[in-house]
Amino acid sequence: MNFFTLHPSSSILLYNPTMKLAIISGGSKGLGLALCQQYLANGYRVVELSRSAPHPFSVQCDFAQPQAALLPIQATFAELSRADYDEIVIINNAALLGPIGPSSRKAPADVIAHLNVNVTSAILFLGQAINAFQTHTCPKSIANISSGAAIKNIFGWSLYCASKAGLEHYIRTVAIEQAEQAQPFTAINIDPDIIDTDMQAGIRQASRDDFPALDRFIMRKDIGLLRPPAQVAAAIIRILNSPMSNGARYDITDFV
Ligand SMILES: NC(=O)c1ccc[n+]([C@@H]2O[C@H](COP(=O)([O-])OP(=O)(O)OC[C@H]3O[C@@H](n4cnc5c(N)ncnc54)[C@H](OP(=O)(O)O)[C@@H]3O)[C@@H](O)[C@H]2O)c1
Repeated sequence: MNFFTLHPSSSILLYNPTMKLAIISGGSKGLGLALCQQYLANGYRVVELSRSAPHPFSVQCDFAQPQAALLPIQATFAELSRADYDEIVIINNAALLGPIGPSSRKAPADVIAHLNVNVTSAILFLGQAINAFQTHTCPKSIANISSGAAIKNIFGWSLYCASKAGLEHYIRTVAIEQAEQAQPFTAINIDPDIIDTDMQAGIRQASRDDFPALDRFIMRKDIGLLRPPAQVAAAIIRILNSPMSNGARYDITDFV
């Protein structure tokens, strides 16, 4: 069953003297985990949402099932929004790359799961966050972890290119809405470059037939071009701590 479960040792509302809050989707591993670790080290109260929910600060949630995912998302935000904060950071990071392959060969169930994770649940997550924290008076930011695939077309990645492009456009629209608010969020897109995570490992498992650029991606790993998640997380936090332009797209390569 998929419903709101906090790790037994978790206490979202534990007293934290700095009262800065970071909520990150997909913080169980990869880039999301590195973001959680660095925000924790910086004294933030951190909450992450993922299926495996392995951390004391995790909330179990399956973005492939948007309707069910709403329950833990809403319960988490309802609880967290009761407190005041000095800063609130919301990071939409959870995403799938697959299914990889030509559009005509994608199984309908995989197409739906991809769009549910990367688009529908991401938009529900961000919309609920805005709703929960709109009247909080502290500095507030929303960062969408995007991809070069949002602006480049890659054979075999039609869903990923479409979902990343769609979310970027969603964020730009949120940004113009927020500009009209009395207590606005700053909403930005961030391109995190290429990172040494399970997502890249999954890409290297694709067939050449489905993904003609396979050898280039294997070579990138072999010659050490993938960035460590910690390096990318540090650059993202640097972006979020710098004066940001609402609605802008940032590239971490300018901040490493
Ligand atoms: N790696 C790269 O080179 C690269 C390049 C450009 C952009 N990005 C972007 O960077 C972000 C992080 O990617 P990553 O490389 O760190 O990926 P990753 O290692 O595969 O981690 C993905 C995260 O998303 C969560 N997630 C996946 N499916 C989910 C679901 N159904 N419900 C809830 N959570 C789910 C995973 O948690 P569970 O498995 O526990 O659910 C995990 O925490 C993504 O937005 C990705 O598109 C990555």
